[in-house]
Amino acid sequence: MLDVLTQKIHDEARQGEAYTPFINDPAQYHKKFYIESYGCQMNFSDSEIVASILQNAGFGATRNVAEADLVLLNTCSIREKAEQTVRKRLTEFRKIKQAKPGLLVGILGCMAERLKSKLLEEEHLVDLVVGPDAYRSLPGLVEEAEGGQKAVNVLLSREETYADISPVRLNSNGVSGFVSIMRGCNNMCTFCVVPFTRGRERSRDAFSIVRECQDLFDRGYKEVTLLGQNVDSYYFTPETGDSSLGKATVVVTFALLLEMVAKISPLLRVRFSTSHPKDITDDVLHVITRYENICKYIHLPVQSGSSRILQMMNRTYTREWYMAKINRIREIIPNCGISSDIIAGFCTETEQDHQDTLSLMEYSGYDLSYMFFYSERPGTLAQRRYKDDVPEAVKKRRLQEIVDLQNRLSKESNKKDQGKTFEVLIEGDSKKSEQDWMGRTSQNKVIVFSKSGNAYKKGDYVKVKVTDCTKATLLGEII
Ligand code: 5AD
Ligand code: SF4
Repeated sequence: MLDVLTQKIHDEARQGEAYTPFINDPAQYHKKFYIESYGCQMNFSDSEIVASILQNAGFGATRNVAEADLVLLNTCSIREKAEQTVRKRLTEFRKIKQAKPGLLVGILGCMAERLKSKLLEEEHLVDLVVGPDAYRSLPGLVEEAEGGQKAVNVLLSREETYADISPVRLNSNGVSGFVSIMRGCNNMCTFCVVPFTRGRERSRDAFSIVRECQDLFDRGYKEVTLLGQNVDSYYFTPETGDSSLGKATVVVTFALLLEMVAKISPLLRVRFSTSHPKDITDDVLHVITRYENICKYIHLPVQSGSSRILQMMNRTYTREWYMAKINRIREIIPNCGISSDIIAGFCTETEQDHQDTLSLMEYSGYDLSYMFFYSERPGTLAQRRYKDDVPEAVKKRRLQEIVDLQNRLSKESNKKDQGKTFEVLIEGDSKKSEQDWMGRTSQNKVIVFSKSGNAYKKGDYVKVKVTDCTKATLLGEII
């Protein structure tokens, strides 16, 4: 069944409707927009959808804010600091707008959704406020704003997935592309604002996902990352599929979707993010092992190591349950890279809860973690139910202990790789030197190695032997 399905999709993808070229020649547009993105990968991916919508409405993308007629900030609300960063950036745009009064300024994304028209009152320079499900209305809203009215659309949708829109790849390295497979989140973790700013979870049409990945591959891309707040709950039932595939008979789960994308070509690496410990299935783990080109790397946020805190966070698993999941991953995919998100100082967290987090980190042996101290967000369940009662100094100290432990774990994990050889996808020059390449292993570790006169280029796969490491990077040589 899978083969019939994938073949069908690949055929369709080849003949598929023409995709908008990436960034078109800016000279052909008389109006220009400039966009900055903050926060998660999903926001960066959304900005590429916005760019496509605007390009079709006659706006060309520019990387130079001075020549823009429209400036957009695609914003994040996940922590207070993320919002403060955007506010600071707005004060800089205030100066630019004073010098160029016709300039339109728009706020997109989670802050737009959270604050709605309040943003217009608080930030007078803002002309447009557009939530994550309302990007199709951007051209109309821009027209309204051009006519001197403030324009707002923050309607959330149960259906919108922008499935038919081919993203304009902004700031891409031409090797690695992000593909959104679903939107929203139904999980209601009590600390999290995302269910409120991005709405209900919905899965994008599987056929359009495969078509977009095929298109990237045809353009020379060698890696796609499938994006969603909770990819394991991806679930697509085609309402309007081809009759030969049947209507309700083909249900695409995340495991099946991964397989469909992996089959595009063995030369296309497939990554995905983010997995929820409660939803990742053995099926997914088995598919990862079955395909060489599905990267052996899982981002599996734990948030806390204390079962009591996990319950207050509404994560719906316990410490023991999470440990069993880690065991299962190590059993099925022995060479798997695992990373996590961790929050220090959630409401009522005791010293013992904190110790539980440290010991679970150690148990899991994370290669990498994204670590934060708890930031109370207005409107979330935690804000309504619990007191944010861990003093800031304690939150910061605990976070530092978490960071220190992760640094040690990362270093240990990197040390274990010394002497091993990995297949590496070259992503470009290393940050520090044009004499060196930077790439990634399947396990998502960054590796830097000398070009040393070899005829390789960006997008090639090379075998690299690890000779040394820091806590963040592997160093190696081509063999
Ligand atoms: N405070 C701190 N960190 C948070 N995250 C989400 N909400 C908050 C919050 N209110 C973290 C979680 C999540 C990651 C994307 O951001 O760890 O997994
Ligand atoms: Fe937020 Fe939890 Fe959904 Fe992640 S899974 S977006 S942390 S509610």
